[in-house]
Amino acid sequence: MNLLHLDSSALGAHSVTREITAAAVERWAADAAPVRIVRRDLDAAPLPHLSAATLAGGDAVAESAAVLDEFLAADVVVIGAPMYNFGVPSTLKAWLDRISVAGKTFRYTAEGPEGLVHGKTVVIAVAAGGAHAGQPTDFVEPYLRQLFGFLGVRDVHVVRADGVAMSAEHRREAIERAVAALPAPLRHAA
Ligand SMILES: Cc1cc2nc3c(=O)[nH]c(=O)nc-3n(C[C@H](O)[C@H](O)[C@H](O)COP(=O)(O)O)c2cc1C
Repeated sequence: MNLLHLDSSALGAHSVTREITAAAVERWAADAAPVRIVRRDLDAAPLPHLSAATLAGGDAVAESAAVLDEFLAADVVVIGAPMYNFGVPSTLKAWLDRISVAGKTFRYTAEGPEGLVHGKTVVIAVAAGGAHAGQPTDFVEPYLRQLFGFLGVRDVHVVRADGVAMSAEHRREAIERAVAALPAPLRHAA
């Protein structure tokens, strides 16, 4: 079983999403099935923005292909998705731009778009300073659900820690609730 662990928080040891994704990965690693964990820290090692250069050829294209292969090889993808200025961090957006590839992860047919990514579980930890769950101000969870749904991923779990800037108590309780809401490890082929 392959697990891809992605973080994008810029807040290092103070990050809420890093704490939750670490708990999620620990939970999968403690499961009876052997787990191979691949770690990608999009803050420590950011991918370049999608640009003419990254589409044109050379090293940047090879890096994009490697990022896509890493995603495709994962049975479980655990993603830390902080809310920065109402959306996902640009470092996470750069990764999403690498995995959304026509002909590889989706295609258009006469009937409309078709996602090509099947059999994956995606676990997303969202954190926000304010309370945005279910509100029109949230451009994190609806965006990520749309994107992974478009790619064909059916098994998407979102856990949220909202209001973490409201008080230390809000923060602690929100993290505890998010960790408690993490899905139990599902069985994938070893
Ligand atoms: C650059 C930046 C932008 C932020 N923008 C928002 C925002 O638009 N709305 C909000 O509720 N909180 C915002 N916050 C607060 C974060 O969502 C909060 O600190 C959360 O814990 C981020 O996840 P992290 O701790 O894993 O980085 C922002 C924080 C930073 C550092």
